[in-house]
Amino acid sequence: MTDRSFANLTVVDHPLVADRITRLRDGGTEGPAFRRLTEERAALLAYEASRDLPVAARQVQTPLASCPGVRLEASPVIVPILRAGLGMVPGVARLFPEGPVGHLGMYRDEETLKPVPYYAKLPEPLTGRPVFLLDPMLATGGSALMALEYLQEQGAGDVRVLCLVAAPEGVRRLEERFPEVPVWTAALDGGLNDRAYIVPGLGDAGDRLFGTG
Ligand code: PRP
Ligand code: URA
Repeated sequence: MTDRSFANLTVVDHPLVADRITRLRDGGTEGPAFRRLTEERAALLAYEASRDLPVAARQVQTPLASCPGVRLEASPVIVPILRAGLGMVPGVARLFPEGPVGHLGMYRDEETLKPVPYYAKLPEPLTGRPVFLLDPMLATGGSALMALEYLQEQGAGDVRVLCLVAAPEGVRRLEERFPEVPVWTAALDGGLNDRAYIVPGLGDAGDRLFGTG
């Protein structure tokens, strides 16, 4: 469902997604279950975000007859924002096993709340290929914005952002700077608290995935 407040946002409205977001929000959901639910939800988001991927005609021979079909023109490049985006990779890679995986490392400075980049490794070329940018929490939007700017510098054209939970502040910021970039989320929450955590959100995604914090 396209959210009426934001032209670039699709809130995926599906019982399987809603069930998993509820279990992820639950503070009692621990490590292994949290990881599995993150993977599953990432796959469901990637399925939705793939609806208009370009396909080419392909003829196949069934055991009975020749039959017209299609194949994806190109597997998307999968780009998680470290660390928490890593938790989404297995779910997306299951749909696109041939998709190369790039990595963008950044953490949010606790004082300034601005992203600090520390690593970047992307496959080449990015030009002409869809890129799925995985950022579980779209809070202030600073991390996604920095990632999008970098991807654009590296030649990416068709970038799609997938996140588990989004705050209106982050979606608005992305829409202002990159109106052409679509965003898929399972939940659009109320807003941010004074430490820029999404409320109700699900807490610190990286810490819950990796047992830190
Ligand atoms: C989290 C999350 C996002 C970012 C979102 O990462 O995974 O990448 O914050 O916040 P923003 O929209 O305000 O930029 P964090 O900095 O906690 O690093 P981590 O993934 O290594 O835990
Ligand atoms: N990063 C998180 O992991 N959670 C939030 O709510 C905001 C940023």
